[in-house]
Amino acid sequence: MVVAVKILGLSGSLRKDSAHSAVLRTVAEQLPASVALELHDLHDVPPYNEDLDCDAAPVAVLALREAVRRADAVLIGSPEYNHGMSGVLKNALDWISRPHGKSSLTGKPVLTFTASPAFTGGVRAHQQLNETLVAIQAVQVAYPQIVIGSVASKLKDGRLVDEAANQFLMDGVRRLAQLVDNWPL
Ligand SMILES: Cc1cc2nc3c(=O)[nH]c(=O)nc-3n(C[C@H](O)[C@H](O)[C@H](O)COP(=O)(O)O)c2cc1C
Repeated sequence: MVVAVKILGLSGSLRKDSAHSAVLRTVAEQLPASVALELHDLHDVPPYNEDLDCDAAPVAVLALREAVRRADAVLIGSPEYNHGMSGVLKNALDWISRPHGKSSLTGKPVLTFTASPAFTGGVRAHQQLNETLVAIQAVQVAYPQIVIGSVASKLKDGRLVDEAANQFLMDGVRRLAQLVDNWPL
């Protein structure tokens, strides 16, 4: 089957057993065959440096921007570190936000989520992430904040197994779908 809709998945955690990467994988497995969610690794993205932000930007940055440009929509998960989004993700978004006024994320449908072992689910990081997306002028899904609290008890074998959390998340993904033309979900 031809893939009609491409979603880019970004996890703000580099951890091998990341809850956010696990949630993204869980979403990918539930999508119909005509929709693909591909994770883009942020390991190689260097710290933002405006001196390097030119036509010959670092290869990992060019690849990240291109991956966003080619995607129809983006699903982003961020850990909460000390009440903020992960530095890895903020750094990636700073690179993606340039060139100023020409970001590949501007005007693109985006859905965000956070997860945490705490019952607060990373809600402070979620708020901060959404604020950054306002600055980049991404099109955020109008949906209640997806924050997955007590996440350790909701994962099994690298997948989100909590029915309520999964339903709420997938409803958000469907809303994301509605922002993309001709989404078949
Ligand atoms: C440096 C650091 C700071 C953290 N600060 C918070 C925090 O402020 N709030 C919170 O809910 N969890 C906090 N945590 C716990 C993370 O939410 C938890 O490690 C989470 O699983 C990270 O996401 P991941 O599983 O995708 O790597 C912190 C973890 C680390 C390593």
